[in-house]
Order: sequence, then structure tokens, then C-alpha cells
Amino acid sequence: MKIMVVNTKGGASKSTFSFQVLGAYFLDKGIDAELVELDDENKDSDIFTDSKISTSTAFVGQSMDDVAHTLQERFKETNKSLILDIGGNKTTTLVLEALKRTRLYHLVDCFLIPMSGGSQDFINAKNTYEIVKNFEKPIIFGLSRVRGLNEIRFQYMEFFREFQNAEYIFLTDSNTIDLSRMLKKSVYEIAKDTIAGGLLKDYDQLIAKEYKSGEMSEKGNELAYIVRILEDSIEYQKNILAPCFEKLDKVLG
Ligand SMILES: Nc1ncnc2c1ncn2[C@@H]1O[C@H](COP(=O)(O)OP(=O)(O)O)[C@@H](O)[C@H]1O
Ligand SMILES: [Mg+2]
Repeated sequence: MKIMVVNTKGGASKSTFSFQVLGAYFLDKGIDAELVELDDENKDSDIFTDSKISTSTAFVGQSMDDVAHTLQERFKETNKSLILDIGGNKTTTLVLEALKRTRLYHLVDCFLIPMSGGSQDFINAKNTYEIVKNFEKPIIFGLSRVRGLNEIRFQYMEFFREFQNAEYIFLTDSNTIDLSRMLKKSVYEIAKDTIAGGLLKDYDQLIAKEYKSGEMSEKGNELAYIVRILEDSIEYQKNILAPCFEKLDKVLG
């Protein structure tokens, strides 16, 4: 299975969908997958060092030929699932052009086009869609930073108006995503760790120590807040990530 995540806009949640949703999806299924970041500017793969999701970066370069070569190298391992997280702006243009010229799009099973709200994200998503649709592969949109389940239609009004029958997945805006960076693993893994209990117990002991050490310490409060987010991650996994996985099952067949 090979999935490409693209939107020309930076900050559209490409890396978030790649790691938190697609990476976790393959991990959940026990499928050997690698998340490859084709981005010479951002290096998100350095952050999640305690995760079981395997990540790497690939050189993009300045020319279509450079990108074509990189893609050909990466597509060689046919038995491995790939998540291709494509950097914004010029990188997206080069990658989509290289994909077309090498005809490697035949090997891509699905395109995911993320947005994180705002008109500019939508305009870029639409422009990206206009190019990607020519490859005649399944396309799924990713709506991120959703402020609330009742607000999604309002927040993404332009999207729902333009793409009435499109497949989409969404992520609500959540502290669990930020905590994930801090704990260097995915929200999915944090939720599993929290359910298993060990992580909560460790934090609880630390908090008890801090609180007992005197007046309500700042540090104790901070730790208690982290515990709240750890507990939230269980809900996030159940209510937000699991439905994403179900939709991916449906689209990917
Ligand atoms: N659902 C969410 N909740 C909280 N933060 C989010 C969410 N989605 C994205 N972000 C944050 O928004 C920023 C941009 O997202 P990122 O995935 O890095 O975008 P891109 O890869 O398209 O540039 C990151 O700091 C990320 O953590
Ligand atoms: Mg990124």
C-alpha cells in the first residue's frame, strides 16, 4: 500500500495526518510501513524518536529529475507500505510533476489531501485536487484542527459546498497532538500506553511526591495537566482515530 499526502500549503497538517493517522493505521494493522518525508525544510521525522512508526527523510533537490530519482528509489521496495509526506510549495509541484513523468502514480493507491481550516488551505487543497484527480486514484480529504463535532460543517463550509460527495476524515484540535511531540510518540501509542496503566501510575507517583513536598507546587499542577491529556488520548483514539481507520479501510478496500 502506498499513500501520498499532498497539499501545496505549508501547515495544512500533512505531517500530522501522515504520522498520527496513516502511521498509526499501519501500526494498528501490523503492516510493515515507512513514513518518508520528502521535505528539505521540515524534518518532523526527527521528533518522534520513541515511536514504533518508522520514519525517514528523502532528499528532494531542485529539479524534477532529482525528485524522479528519489521516488524511483523509494518505490523499489514493493512489499513495503509507504506513506509519502510531501513538503509544500515547490516540493509539491516537483513531486507531482515527477510522479506524472515517471508514471509512478500507477503505484500509488491513494492520495490524501489535508487542510487545517482557513480559506487559503482550501484554495490550495482544491488546486492540488485538480492535479491529483488526473491520476484517477482514490482521493481522501483530511480536515484538521476541527473545533468541535458540531462545528465541522461551519468551519469547513467551502469544502462541503464544493466537494459534496468526497471522502474525508477529520481530526479535532487537541492537546494530545502537542503532548505527542513531547512524549515523542503517536497519540495512538500514548493511548495504548495509558490504557495499559504503567504510564499513568508513573505520573501519579510523581504528582503525589510533588504535592506532598509542600504547598501546591507548580510542577505538580503541570504534571496533573499532562495526566488529564493522557486520559484524553484514550477518548481521542476511540472517537477520532478509530473512525479515521474505518474510513481508510473503506477507501483502500
Ligand atoms: N488536530 C490538531 N490538533 C492540534 N494541533 C494540530 C492538529 N493538526 C495539526 N496541528 C499542528 O499544526 C501544525 C502544522 O501541522 P503539520 O502537520 O506540521 O503541517 P504540514 O506538514 O502540512 O506543514 C503542527 O504544529 C501540528 O502539530
Ligand atoms: Mg510537514
